[in-house]
Amino acid sequence: MLAFVWLPIAAISALHYGTGMEHAWVHDILRRSYYLPIVIAAFLGGLRGAALAALITSALYVPHAFLGHHHHDPAGTLEKVLEIVLYNGVGAAAGTLAELERRRRRELQRALDEQQALIGQLVRAGRLSALGQVVAGITHEIKNPLHALAGTAEIVDPLIPAEAEERAMWEIHVRELRRLERIAERFLSFARPGPSELALLDLREVATRLGELIDAEARGKGIKVELELGERPLWVLGDRDQLASVALNVAVNAFEAIAGRGGVLRISAAADGPSACLRLENDGPAIPEAELARLFDPFVSGRAQGTGLGLAIASRIADQHGGTIEAANGGLGVAFTLRLPLREAGSKAGGGARG
Ligand SMILES: Nc1ncnc2c1ncn2[C@@H]1O[C@H](COP(=O)(O)OP(=O)(O)OP(=O)(O)O)[C@@H](O)[C@H]1O
Ligand SMILES: [Mg+2]
Repeated sequence: MLAFVWLPIAAISALHYGTGMEHAWVHDILRRSYYLPIVIAAFLGGLRGAALAALITSALYVPHAFLGHHHHDPAGTLEKVLEIVLYNGVGAAAGTLAELERRRRRELQRALDEQQALIGQLVRAGRLSALGQVVAGITHEIKNPLHALAGTAEIVDPLIPAEAEERAMWEIHVRELRRLERIAERFLSFARPGPSELALLDLREVATRLGELIDAEARGKGIKVELELGERPLWVLGDRDQLASVALNVAVNAFEAIAGRGGVLRISAAADGPSACLRLENDGPAIPEAELARLFDPFVSGRAQGTGLGLAIASRIADQHGGTIEAANGGLGVAFTLRLPLREAGSKAGGGARG
């Protein structure tokens, strides 16, 4: 603004005041050169900048036009008044146009950002659903022999006495078998198709239920759980158990992140524009930005024992509910937000969710 508006206006005014009345044509040119900085002010400073430039120009020009004795602008009074009116008119018009243009550009940028986020989510969802089918196939094949192994282990178990040398080995065998079963179960829940029982429910209930589910464990680990629920119900269309599983997956991760050092887990549910949000914040260390982007991809885990499926499952369920889940460093430290379309209390099940 200084270089392209204020200095030029000052320079034109100085020349104006310094030019004698005999050079009428110079005055004509100078009087009209004011338009340039006024229009530039519109582009650089919007309506405010243009109006200010027009007013300052008028204020600088008026004494020169009407008050000076030897050096005033020799043009006719009507012409000079018209010029001043035009300074302000052009300033207002250019400023308004620039303002409109700016607003349009902002809206365009916002739409672009939204679209990019949506594309990212779609890509993620597509990748997850393709992977889901593969995982379902493999898991299915693994589950049957696993079932047989578990069944026979149950029969063999009483045959190995507690004092036998092989008992320790046997225990490892059974423990690992259980672990395999748990992992298979986890893979299956990742691959499970869309929400089966859509019902209108209050997202605050999911938060309350989560609070109850984790209460005992939190106490055992010395973790403080804070529940923040609004007054008004947050109606969403969803599968109660699957939404609870999303919340639980995120909460378990949070517990792991703050384990051993007390810590706080804050569960809150609130409306945000057209969405109902369930937010889980913990005061654990921030997650590096590079990891944040991949957190919801399957098999991404920062833990030795993790399968890296918890958040992939959560993401898939959110997607099947027509919602999103995102992670960010913020709030208490790390925050996960599940966002679902907010419904009217009277709306019917069946719309909205994707299968
Ligand atoms: N609140 C959190 N703070 C820090 N890191 C987190 C948090 N939540 C998730 N993570 C990181 O994201 C990784 C992926 O989480 P995810 O739940 O998908 O897998 P997992 O917990 O490792 O395994 P699984 O849940 O399948 O047993 C975690 O291993 C952890 O490194
Ligand atoms: Mg997990």
